[in-house]
Amino acid sequence: MSQLTVNGNALRLERFPPQPQDPLQAWDAADELLLNAHQLPEGRLLILNDHFGALACGLADRPLSWVNDSFVAHQALQQNLDLNDLVPELDALNALDALSAPINGVIIKLPRSLRLLTAQLDWLNANLPAGTPVVIGARQKDMPSTLPDLTRQLLDEVHPSRAVKKARLVYGQLCGRQSGQPEHLEWHCEPVDQTILNYPNVYGAKSLDLGARLLLANLPKVRGQVVDLGCGNGVLSLGLLKANPEAKILAVDESWDAVRSTRDNLAKVADADQFEVVWNDCLSGMEGGQADWVLCNPPFHQQQAVTDHVAWQMFRDARRVLKQGGRVRIVGNRHLAYHIKLTRLFGGCTTIASNAKFVVLEAQKR
Ligand SMILES: C[S@@+](CC[C@H](N)C(=O)[O-])C[C@H]1O[C@@H](n2cnc3c(N)ncnc32)[C@H](O)[C@@H]1O
Repeated sequence: MSQLTVNGNALRLERFPPQPQDPLQAWDAADELLLNAHQLPEGRLLILNDHFGALACGLADRPLSWVNDSFVAHQALQQNLDLNDLVPELDALNALDALSAPINGVIIKLPRSLRLLTAQLDWLNANLPAGTPVVIGARQKDMPSTLPDLTRQLLDEVHPSRAVKKARLVYGQLCGRQSGQPEHLEWHCEPVDQTILNYPNVYGAKSLDLGARLLLANLPKVRGQVVDLGCGNGVLSLGLLKANPEAKILAVDESWDAVRSTRDNLAKVADADQFEVVWNDCLSGMEGGQADWVLCNPPFHQQQAVTDHVAWQMFRDARRVLKQGGRVRIVGNRHLAYHIKLTRLFGGCTTIASNAKFVVLEAQKR
């Protein structure tokens, strides 16, 4: 467990889920700078993209609205508030649309995707008064070269702070202007023969993932209940339904933009009672022994960190929710050696297809 000192007070903070001997911290130099030097007015602050709740914990003496697309980030926030016995006046929301309280200032931790930042600034400019102060924080190495142009386009009075521990803040004020970026991106996915809609923070927003392409070319014939675990924009469910029009789909993702992208995409091809899309951390809380198939293209990073803990969690949860005799079919980069994990959990696995970079594997719950 690590400690972050904010204005003389020590905070205990952990990433989520907690990992034994995790060398990674739950905050970075940009969080530290935001907490110690944000210069925002008194009153309610809106915090965006605070991955593990460090900003909310450090500002817990003020009323807060906290918006994060990630289900895991919401779990991290609660964990770290609990670790520090903090019970702030806090609205924790999955999307800006859900905001109701008036906001006096906005803190934005720079997200990985500038498309998401642009969508957030567009929303703020359309819905909060011009002149509302905004501060954006990031490590310098995470600041893309196009950030100054974007902030000048969507904020007034823009000025950067000096750099501290290789992090920097960008101050500005809302101005009412819009970027012109569409609310969602659309591209035609040839293997499923459908135009796919993508909200700003969904994985694969601009094109088909190469692993997903191989899995789409090697989908099983199925009957019954299929779980699309880590569904992104729902592309695997679309492929599955094209080949198996009778299947029932449960699609799950921890990203709210993934959930709403999948809902919109599946609604174009399936009846409402044929699919359900759920915002969750893997299959937490889902009853075991009910699925016939699980399809999965697992992530191999969490925020900036490369990790295999999500793949482990997905494979364990897949095994638990499968019926006896049910099967999981997954795709992964060859070098990730998922066959070792599947063999350890399921007692064996079969290679269904492979190419130079990816492999499709299947395992059965016995
Ligand atoms: C490699 S992408 C695959 C997306 C889509 N299925 C495809 O094949 O293009 C992995 C997906 O897993 C989701 N994810 C990451 N961690 C998760 C978790 N703990 N629970 C549920 N979904 C998660 C990500 O948001 C992302 O959409």
